Amino acid sequence: MLEVVVEAGGAPEDAAELMRGVALAACRAEGVPEADACARIVNDHEMRRLNAASRGVDRATDVLSFPMVKYPSGTARDNARALARETDPETGRAYIGDIAISIDRARAQAAEYGHALERELGFLTAHAMLHLLGYDHERDADERAMRAMEENVLSQLNLSRDRDMSDDALFALAAEAMESAYAPYSGFKVGACVLAADGRTFAGCNVENASYGASICAERSAVVRAVSEGAREIVAIAVAAERTAAWPCGACRQVINEFASPDARLIVGRANGPCETVPFKEIFPRSFGPKDLTYRGEE
Ligand code: THU
Repeated sequence: MLEVVVEAGGAPEDAAELMRGVALAACRAEGVPEADACARIVNDHEMRRLNAASRGVDRATDVLSFPMVKYPSGTARDNARALARETDPETGRAYIGDIAISIDRARAQAAEYGHALERELGFLTAHAMLHLLGYDHERDADERAMRAMEENVLSQLNLSRDRDMSDDALFALAAEAMESAYAPYSGFKVGACVLAADGRTFAGCNVENASYGASICAERSAVVRAVSEGAREIVAIAVAAERTAAWPCGACRQVINEFASPDARLIVGRANGPCETVPFKEIFPRSFGPKDLTYRGEE
């Protein structure tokens, strides 16, 4: 649970609730139990003092995060033990660190990007929470993973910068999901990400099984997650594979077809490479689907 302390004027009334929602979504996106953290909303003056005291930089900044947990490698999801060490036996939640956000910088940045202050606060909270969960943006690959997670978190709350998420952004989420692939038998890692009509995204990866036939492809993992969360209309699905562009197999095409909007897009490519967008219809023409089962025998 994120404790929010509002120390400066000008924060939206629902700021604390919004930020708590973002913090919870970040833990869920990371696949770890809800963690505890504390966020202070301060003004530029206090932010400048904090920045000088903690990093020796004598100027205000938009957000600062102070992680409590050391993740020896990877992020929180790879370090259950480190999280367990910080877990309070009474609450069952780990304390992962502190955040400070300057409301003055948030307001200026919202105006600069032309979006609501809520959206900017959501973004800054997501960014800071991901730092507390072990993300950073020092190397290009790390920055891509962090951006994809930010977009993922914000889209869960309908705070996405762009409700019509770009194909590249959706593809980046698919590539991020690929990292979780369980493919010890084929060694062929795949990630997929569904964009639902309500703007939410749902990622999945291939999950193989020692009984090979019980394996599931990334596309179906993502579709199953979407439908399980109440999303019933797919407007786009991106598929990223490690070794080569992977076009959905026959079974996945049938499953995607069940929920695809008439103009659904399919985005395919090799992770870290360029991606190609085609209408889903193009790879699944003359389909059998829900429309064919409306016949009730009246004729
Ligand atoms: N696979 C997918 O997840 N999606 C595709 O589009 C093609 C194939 C997986 C299934 C299996 O785990 C591995 O790739 C090799 O077939």
